[in-house]
Amino acid sequence: MKNKIIIGIPPSNILAKEVARVSKIDYATLKVTKFPDNELHIRYPVSLTGKKVFLFLSLFNPNEKIVELLFTAMAAKEMKAKKVVLIAPYFPYLREDKLFHKGEIVSARILAKLISKAVDELITIDPHLHRIKSLSEIFDIKTQKLSCNKLISNYIKNNYKKPLIIGPDKESYQWARNVAKLVGCEAYVFTKKRLGSEKVKIHSDIKKDLKKYDIIIVDDIISTGHTIVKTVNNLKRNGAKNISCICVHGLLLKNSMKRLKKAGIKDLVTTNTIPNLRSKIQINQLIAEKIK
Ligand code: R5P
Repeated sequence: MKNKIIIGIPPSNILAKEVARVSKIDYATLKVTKFPDNELHIRYPVSLTGKKVFLFLSLFNPNEKIVELLFTAMAAKEMKAKKVVLIAPYFPYLREDKLFHKGEIVSARILAKLISKAVDELITIDPHLHRIKSLSEIFDIKTQKLSCNKLISNYIKNNYKKPLIIGPDKESYQWARNVAKLVGCEAYVFTKKRLGSEKVKIHSDIKKDLKKYDIIIVDDIISTGHTIVKTVNNLKRNGAKNISCICVHGLLLKNSMKRLKKAGIKDLVTTNTIPNLRSKIQINQLIAEKIK
C-alpha cells in the first residue's frame, strides 16, 4: 500500500517489520544514532509526504524512547505526513494514574497530553486502565485499544485440560474474567494491597478443591513478579498444585524470572508486546488486521 507506511523504531523494528509483512504495508526502519553526549541523531530513510505514517514503538523502559518518539512524530508532521499514528503495543506510565501523595505528578495524564500533541492517533494493546477508565479520559486524540484476551484464551484452550483462572487483584478482572468467559471456565479475582513498589499482600477467600485444576493466573503486566509470587503462595496454601501464569506485557524486571521459577510457576507465558524469552503469544496479526 503506497499511501501508508510503517516506520519501525528500534528496538521495535523487528516486530514492526513483521506487522508490515502481514498487513502488506510499506515499511522502513528509522535510523537512530547517538552523538558522543548521548543526544539523538534521527533520520527518516524515506519520504513521508502525503502518507499515513504508522510509527511503531513499544514503550517499555520508556524514558529515552519517549523523547525519541516525540521528536520523530513532530518531525513527521513537518515532513508533511498526512496522518501520524502511533502503534505502541505497550503504553507506559498508566499505573501512575492517581495522586497518591501531595505534590506527586500523575504521570499518566502528563504523558497522554504530550503524546496527544505529537501524534494524531494512538493504537495500543491492553493498556493498564484502572482508576482512569478509558483512554479518552486522558488523551485528546483518537485512541484505539486492542485486546489479547482472545489470543490468551486460545492459548489456554490449546494447552490446558482443566483450566481455572485467577486474577491477582481487582483491576485484573478485565483480563481474568473475560479470558475465562472465552475459554468457558471459572475465574476468581483476588484482592491486593500494595505496600511499596516491591511489596504486596494478596488476599483471597477461595473455597475450591484447587488441586483438581490447571490454575492459570492472568494479568496485564508482570514487572518485578512480586504480585504473581504472592498469588502463587496464596494458591498453594489453598491446595493448588499446578500453577501457570499468562500475562500480556512481560516487563520481567529485577530477577523476576528466577523469583517466579522459585515460587513454583509451571509455565510462564507472555505476549510479544515486549519481546522476551517467554513471549509465545504473537500479537502481529492482531495489529496487522487493525491497520490494513
Ligand atoms: C498492577 O496492578 C498490574 O496489573 C500488575 O499486577 C503489576 O504491575 C505487577 O507488578 P509486579 O510484577 O511488580 O508485582
